[in-house]
Amino acid sequence: MAEDLNITTSTDKSQQYTALIPQIEALLFGEPDLVANLANISAALKEQFKWFWVGFYMVKNGELVLGPFQGPVACTRIKLGKGVCGTAWERAKTLVVPNVEAFPGHIACSSLSQSEIVVPVFHNGAVVGVLDVDSELLDQFDETDAQFLEQIVKLIKF
Ligand code: SME
Repeated sequence: MAEDLNITTSTDKSQQYTALIPQIEALLFGEPDLVANLANISAALKEQFKWFWVGFYMVKNGELVLGPFQGPVACTRIKLGKGVCGTAWERAKTLVVPNVEAFPGHIACSSLSQSEIVVPVFHNGAVVGVLDVDSELLDQFDETDAQFLEQIVKLIKF
């Protein structure tokens, strides 16, 4: 397993993801532990993209509970349908939020977060968690992020 991430300096987002994905695959290869793998995915994304907050919330006993993440301390529990995370979970769909102030019910774990993307994690057809990414800048996420992050969460093995 590679111990150091090869950070792509390209400003092209697709190129950054394309270089990162095989490295994430290598990090996960042969490692069955879910927490270890979620932790390394969060760290790899944070290192490449320098986003404000990157991490997972996992469904436990009917609510989302904070999992491995990189960034400032965050809210620990989110209910179904609440906030961007709980809404992505309820709809089983990726949500891109260009301006969190404009999202009804957005949960502000940090007042610095301005835009957000939440990608559901599926196992056996059900949402078992979400990948949440926050930026301090407005309008930082788009369909490219949605497609690549969806590809990344599919690498998670349960
Ligand atoms: N903003 C999220 C809560 C999680 S934090 O951003 C880490 C939401 O509205 O669900």
